[in-house]
Amino acid sequence: MITIALSKGRLAEQALDLLEKAGYDVSAGREKSRKLILEDPNTGLRFILAKPADVPTYVEYGAADLGVVGKDTLLEEGRQLYEVIDLGFGKCRMCVAGPAELKGKLDTIPNKRVGTKYPNITRAYFEGVKKESVEIIKLNGSVELAPLIGLSEVIVDIVESGRTLYENGLDVLETVADISARVVVNRVSMTMKADEIKPMIAKLKEQVEIMNKEG
Ligand code: PRP
Repeated sequence: MITIALSKGRLAEQALDLLEKAGYDVSAGREKSRKLILEDPNTGLRFILAKPADVPTYVEYGAADLGVVGKDTLLEEGRQLYEVIDLGFGKCRMCVAGPAELKGKLDTIPNKRVGTKYPNITRAYFEGVKKESVEIIKLNGSVELAPLIGLSEVIVDIVESGRTLYENGLDVLETVADISARVVVNRVSMTMKADEIKPMIAKLKEQVEIMNKEG
């Protein structure tokens, strides 16, 4: 039995579609209910539906053998696991954003306050990459509000279409990282369940290559 941790929401649907294209029966995973464990003993697959930020935790501890999760969560959580496939969907960018008038002037503001749901990514970027110390203010959502209301000068957040920023008079100031969905594998499962997991990785990679060719 292979246990797959899915990030509840759109990413889960896309992950199931991909597994199906790769030849797996994922009907158990599509059950519309409030159940959090969905399994079919005949297919040897068990799906668990977790909050995206918890997927790497389930996989690191071996509660799940494999997981599908955004690179943003992986960067933030910094868990010990194998990242084996870039699935190419769930694409977006992790950005520093703020009022449009700060474009090109980010480095001129001293002692910046940065609002974000991603304190580790923010610290790694400002302190690690830019060698600049900033005050990080942890938020849990609607992060764009922070510079609008004077809580912080800038934010570090996910930008997908750019619509949330645009409609709030904000703009991308710098790109921190390109994000997309990844397949991660527990380090012990990779060896102990190699007979099941390695072919699964190979089939998924094949499908991703087809998808990429199709554009
Ligand atoms: C995410 C992100 C941005 C928005 C970006 O928020 O934090 O706010 O989506 O998307 P866009 O560029 O297409 O507008 P989410 O919807 O996950 O909610 P949150 O505010 O609770 O984080």
